[in-house]
Amino acid sequence: MKVSEALEKRMSVRGFLDKPVPRDILESLLTTAQRSPSGGNLQPWRVIALTGASKQAVIDLAAAKLAKNPAGEPTDRPVYPENLWEPHRSRRFAVGEALYGALGIPREDKIARLTWFANNFQFFNAPVALMFVIDERMGHGQWAHTGMFMQSIALLAEELGLGTCMQECWAILRPSLKEHLGLGETEMLYCGMALGYPDMDNPANQMRSERAPLEEFAEFRD
Ligand SMILES: Cc1cc2nc3c(=O)[nH]c(=O)nc-3n(C[C@H](O)[C@H](O)[C@H](O)COP(=O)(O)O)c2cc1C
Repeated sequence: MKVSEALEKRMSVRGFLDKPVPRDILESLLTTAQRSPSGGNLQPWRVIALTGASKQAVIDLAAAKLAKNPAGEPTDRPVYPENLWEPHRSRRFAVGEALYGALGIPREDKIARLTWFANNFQFFNAPVALMFVIDERMGHGQWAHTGMFMQSIALLAEELGLGTCMQECWAILRPSLKEHLGLGETEMLYCGMALGYPDMDNPANQMRSERAPLEEFAEFRD
């Protein structure tokens, strides 16, 4: 598969087949993704791959914590900036509408939308959950480089017939996950990623997100 094909094909997969990902495939995927660049070659990321009982334990933890406190726990690094501005605000709104449109859940049905969103906290039934960990002392550069590592995983997954969904939603459980996953004193969870064989019949996977045209985000100066 060409890189351009992997980029075109990659999408956030929010429904997976009940089919395990063999351990050797997972190991080889992560080993290849480790070739991702990072400033100073710091390789600032760490990843914990959860399957089976350890994945279920995180799902159970999330269910218990969110039942008591649906808004989740405080983090000093929120997923989005406060009062998101244009054009980003509209783009976020549009992709949400497109997804719930594909699922047939209207805007007025807030309960159904929230219920569906809760699938995030079951990793959309993916057989593998990757948890990306970063040292709290790292700066914005190292966060960006960790994102490159994640994108490498997502593209390699395409080549292997796998699908991914990056999941920053787990940020609302950072303190609990830090304890549960036994992270180091200065470590924190950045993001999760659901990984598995995509169920392309799932309505959630029928949605293809849009992108701004070239002239909106690029300029060319001679
Ligand atoms: C770092 C990161 C975190 C994300 N977190 C979530 C998440 O928690 N739940 C979710 O359903 N999608 C999540 N997404 C998926 C985005 O909504 C998605 O990438 C975007 O709408 C573009 O759609 P596409 O991935 O299908 O191209 C995340 C994406 C990124 C890059």
